[in-house]
Amino acid sequence: MPWTRQHLLGLEELTKEEILEILDTAASFKEVSTRSIKKINALQGKVVVNLFFEASTRTSNSFALAAKRLSADTMSFSSSGSSVSKGETLIDTALNIQAMGVDAFVIRHSAPGAPHLLARHVNVPVINAGDGCHEHPTQGLLDMFTIREVFGRFEGLTVAILGDIRHSRVARSNAWGLRKLGARVILAGPPTLVPQAIGAALGVEVSHDIDAVIAEADVLNCLRIQFERKAANYFPGTREYAAIYGLNAERMKHCKKDAIIMHPGPINRGIELTPDLADGERSVILDQVQNGLAVRMAVLFLCMGAKPEKRTA
Ligand code: CP
Repeated sequence: MPWTRQHLLGLEELTKEEILEILDTAASFKEVSTRSIKKINALQGKVVVNLFFEASTRTSNSFALAAKRLSADTMSFSSSGSSVSKGETLIDTALNIQAMGVDAFVIRHSAPGAPHLLARHVNVPVINAGDGCHEHPTQGLLDMFTIREVFGRFEGLTVAILGDIRHSRVARSNAWGLRKLGARVILAGPPTLVPQAIGAALGVEVSHDIDAVIAEADVLNCLRIQFERKAANYFPGTREYAAIYGLNAERMKHCKKDAIIMHPGPINRGIELTPDLADGERSVILDQVQNGLAVRMAVLFLCMGAKPEKRTA
């Protein structure tokens, strides 16, 4: 089925076939990064704008490099040092940048729905690079790409997403996508950070027994405690959190033989997982980062290449 979406705003609205089309396109782009000249001219002459209103290392650099690998020009915008600090609105900012003749916006914003609002006001593709606690679709996609690369399938797999689910856009995008692809998803962590209502809303399981979940999971995706969103108010202290809910070598003695450990980054080493596990043989954390580049190339390529007369939201 040919891709028709102009925007990538979340995985909730994508079909299984659309998710697989992105993963398959990403698989075809992964090889580009192994060439001596790491470039194809698919988006030559186009301009991709990175609008980052929140901090980022992986996502902002990955999108910038993905655009360059496709031969697009890039512009980077961050709120500090811009006229946002003088009170300019998101929409005015975007419309002024659009007037310079740009071809896509990649946006990260602390407000859930900011990319959706932007998409209603500009006439070029909008890619959500993380909107508050809502969705982080390209992180979800690169996680799925990495899981498929290791296991070759989704059906029959149990994916545990551990930690600060309450504040996590990564958990939401993973849950929507993995469910559609046929994986079993368990959200796990302290009851305060993993309320039953979130599992019910996403249609996935919830558990507060980390050891039971470790024993069942093929994939353990550890999420960061989001201290900047006041997550520390939801448990007594980081030492207790690490002891009761963190991944460590002792706990991992009871995992499945081929279980893998994922983390979207940035890691709070020693809290959600110990450094030996983050850097150990089960870890695919840097593979996730590598795969993120191919996934973002695919997303830019598909959204910017969708024929205007066939585009859907
Ligand atoms: N995983 C992720 O979104 O990382 P950054 O915040 O560094 O972009």
